[in-house]
Amino acid sequence: MIRHRIGSYNKLRKDTYTLKNIETYLETIDITNEAPVNEPERQYYFMKKARAYVKQISDELQRPLTFCVTTFGCQMNARDSEKLVGVLEQIGYVEEPDEDKADFVIYNTCTVRENANMRVYGRLGQLKHVKKSNPHMMIGLCGCMMQEPEVVEKLKKSYRFVDLIFGTHNIYKFAELIATRFESERMVIDIWKDTDKIVEDLPSERKFSFKSGVNIMFGCNNFCSYCIVPYVRGRERSRNPKDIIREIETLVADGVVEVMLLGQNVNSYGKNLDEPMTFAELLQEIEKIEGLERIRFMTSHPKDLSDELIEVMRHSKKICKHLHLPVQSGSTEILKKMNRHYTKEQYLELVRKIKEAVPDISLTTDIIVGFPGETEEDFLETMDVVKKVRYDSAFTFIYSKRTGTPAAIMENQISDDVVKNRFDRLLKEVQEISAEVCSVHAGTTQPVLVESMNDHDDSLVTGRLSNNILVHFKGDESLIGKIVDVNLKECKGFYYLGEMK
Ligand code: 5AD
Ligand code: SF4
Repeated sequence: MIRHRIGSYNKLRKDTYTLKNIETYLETIDITNEAPVNEPERQYYFMKKARAYVKQISDELQRPLTFCVTTFGCQMNARDSEKLVGVLEQIGYVEEPDEDKADFVIYNTCTVRENANMRVYGRLGQLKHVKKSNPHMMIGLCGCMMQEPEVVEKLKKSYRFVDLIFGTHNIYKFAELIATRFESERMVIDIWKDTDKIVEDLPSERKFSFKSGVNIMFGCNNFCSYCIVPYVRGRERSRNPKDIIREIETLVADGVVEVMLLGQNVNSYGKNLDEPMTFAELLQEIEKIEGLERIRFMTSHPKDLSDELIEVMRHSKKICKHLHLPVQSGSTEILKKMNRHYTKEQYLELVRKIKEAVPDISLTTDIIVGFPGETEEDFLETMDVVKKVRYDSAFTFIYSKRTGTPAAIMENQISDDVVKNRFDRLLKEVQEISAEVCSVHAGTTQPVLVESMNDHDDSLVTGRLSNNILVHFKGDESLIGKIVDVNLKECKGFYYLGEMK
């Protein structure tokens, strides 16, 4: 019996990610037995169990049950949502884009800034009314915001109509949590403070057929003083390189040509593995995968970006000419208070080395305005970095106080009007430079990965250059997922109009 189960599980491992043989595997599971203890077998058992509940309700209603997953926050969360969708589809739910019509509404939340939290509460308030008119409706909340104890307390007190709450560390248990909710009439809450566990080989449903995010590590050990991420995503853990490679090979076999390697700090990949490996070494292994055309990664911390990585980028045929290198501030004084471990000069030197090694690289960044104690002089240092680096684009954020972080109790919090004034000046500078930098490619012909039909004009398709700039040009649906040469005719500020060669 046990041998049989292991045998079919091994078969499953070959291409779990494409969901092709999950059906055969599920058939071998007997849900009248006890749930297996090991993962991922345990979750497949609960998928089969939850599937039976979904079928029962949908037979009664004589229609399929539907779901709608809304993702807040970063690429990491977007990838997590694909895993949620993978499970939901396995257990028989069908996607419904209109949240008000869905039987199962899930918010995968972010908590990096206060306004992300406010949006969730606002939308939950509206959902309460919708739920009254649909007795089958379930509401699930997960993601970073749920890792904050005050949030869960508030939900328990004032949002009793929520059905399921779980966090970032146990997202792999989604099937089990759904089954638990079906078996109890009460709110199910399961939040872990931290974990060192990584569960492989669970289903996921990609949003795009031709590109995919791939987690290479989870968590963060940096503790930048403004940032809540280390508290909600836990300590740094790297995935085994073999698992990463196997996942990418499977994705490529399934039509993927571009991967985005995801981690809060990809440059410290591999440090905690039994056999340590650098991020640069991992990239070289991934580069060897036949059929894979483009490799992107995010996010890089400047303090850990090695010369080895720059060398690998210089010689690579597949790594895209784009580097997101958050500077956060241009003032060495503020960087110190932010606990960033680099000075303005070190950052600029790093940028110089990267531009020298990869001359046509596009650099993007994140900047926070109004960190506690930021003086006008500090702010001018940030403006100076922006002028010197000349970013292709920059995400600019107003500092948001996150309870529990060291910066939240620092003196000299900056007043709203001062911050607003600095923010506007920064944004103007960033946009002017960005338009200039973007336009340098006009007239060149470059490979473009076609991603979608154009949102506004159905005679056009939209694609992305290696450096991440968008291009719109005449084409049809058959081009989606293909890499084609496009002449960049006209720069429109942040994007191009082009013509296929
Ligand atoms: N306030 C404002 N912006 C923040 N970020 C992270 N924490 C905060 C905060 N408390 C920004 C950083 C980070 C990006 C993902 O979000 O710039 O790089
Ligand atoms: Fe992503 Fe950070 Fe937001 Fe979590 S808190 S979703 S890790 S940006």
